[in-house]
Amino acid sequence: MLKDTYPYYLANKAIHANQDLEVTDKYTGKVATRVALANYPVIDQAIAAAADAQEAMQAFPPYKRQAVLNHCVKRFQERFDEIAMALCIEAGKPIKDARGEVTRLIDTFRVGAEEAVRIGGEVMNLEIAERAKGYRGMWKRVPIGPCSLISPFNFPLNLAAHKIAPAIAAGCTWVMKPASRTPIGALIIGEVLAETDLPKGAFSILPCSRDGADLFTEDDRLKLLSFTGSPGVGWELKAKAGRKKVVLELGGNAACLIDADQADRLDAVVERVVFGAYYQSGQSCISVQRILVHDAVYDAFRDKLVAAVKALKMGDPKNDDTFIGPMISEGEAKRLEGWVERATQGGAKLLCGGKREGAMLEASLLEDVPFDTEINCEEAFGPVAALYRYSDFESALQQINNSKFGLQAGLFTHDIRKAMRAWDVLDVGGVVINDVPSWRVDNMPYGGVKDSGLGREGVKYAIEDMTEIRLLVIRD
Ligand code: SIN
Repeated sequence: MLKDTYPYYLANKAIHANQDLEVTDKYTGKVATRVALANYPVIDQAIAAAADAQEAMQAFPPYKRQAVLNHCVKRFQERFDEIAMALCIEAGKPIKDARGEVTRLIDTFRVGAEEAVRIGGEVMNLEIAERAKGYRGMWKRVPIGPCSLISPFNFPLNLAAHKIAPAIAAGCTWVMKPASRTPIGALIIGEVLAETDLPKGAFSILPCSRDGADLFTEDDRLKLLSFTGSPGVGWELKAKAGRKKVVLELGGNAACLIDADQADRLDAVVERVVFGAYYQSGQSCISVQRILVHDAVYDAFRDKLVAAVKALKMGDPKNDDTFIGPMISEGEAKRLEGWVERATQGGAKLLCGGKREGAMLEASLLEDVPFDTEINCEEAFGPVAALYRYSDFESALQQINNSKFGLQAGLFTHDIRKAMRAWDVLDVGGVVINDVPSWRVDNMPYGGVKDSGLGREGVKYAIEDMTEIRLLVIRD
């Protein structure tokens, strides 16, 4: 379902240049398609076009921005199956998860279309002292200017959409660098946007290698950098970003707590935890990695979880009944296999999984993982999770906080006081009660603290970053 070749998009136009980037089918490892690769002069030209087009984009009225976003919604609905299969091939994402991502892509653009006509401001009272008597204030939001958008491999469509839809809604021009291993999702969005009447130069989507990639971070014509990817890269880019505003959506090692009062619904909890830990082979920043289970239900929960994990079907992501597909590369699968080995050498017990063939790593579950091993303290970003036993709720909350990351946490509990306490003290961007931390819907504020990032996405919140407040003061 992939075309033989894909262009890049320069100033809204498809450019069928070289086809220097090979994109593989992540399951077979074979080249699935070839993509035009941008270089320094092309990226420089794209940024110049975005800077030139900013005035026109700002003047492009909200109802027209809304129409562009609604056009995308319609075209994604029409092309649903084709887009899902492209995603399945380029990312190795099981087809069910791929369909889920296309549904979310549509949601994100739909929310963008709604927000495009909702960007407002405030009339404010300035008369706080005698000297301000007779002064009136009001403010509105204006686009920040050309944006640099860098998207990751794990949600090639929807995490690109979380940057593109708000940029269009806010009236910003933009240049995007999609992940080189999975550029097709963003290029399909580009194909659809090229059908619209966005001002010329408003967008470019440029897969690239090192040549010119630094421009996305360092060029001063770009006023905001929005990056989703690994913490190491994200913080490094921030240090090089100069004066631009920076939004970082980075990693996590999300924890999920199961309270003693869940004894009557362990099957339902296990089902959600299996999903949260292993869907799309755990390659999500909010994948469940640390599972804290109360002593009273630990043994029963562990036995049910092990049985459920062992039953997960691994194989070709194109099959409807596949749950575990390949990781993004053999290198990543080897890395995580090594982490599992190091944890077991350090005293952890492997309850199931652990075997690897190429990029396919079995869904793996450990217990008694030493706190100083990678499986506990780094981001696994793969199909591996660890079980921990706890008896004291406050200490469990501390254990969740005892991480350099802070993206989302999940708690299964019937006790509203514990839910509120967790919301108060957990140092994370979001707390999910009675579901896994992996739960996300696309209009909610999403992002992390500590090493997990800076700022929030969720369309409306991204629009806040992509706009500046401009004040008007009137003296009577
Ligand atoms: C992520 O991996 O940060 C995104 C997770 C999601 O959108 O579900």
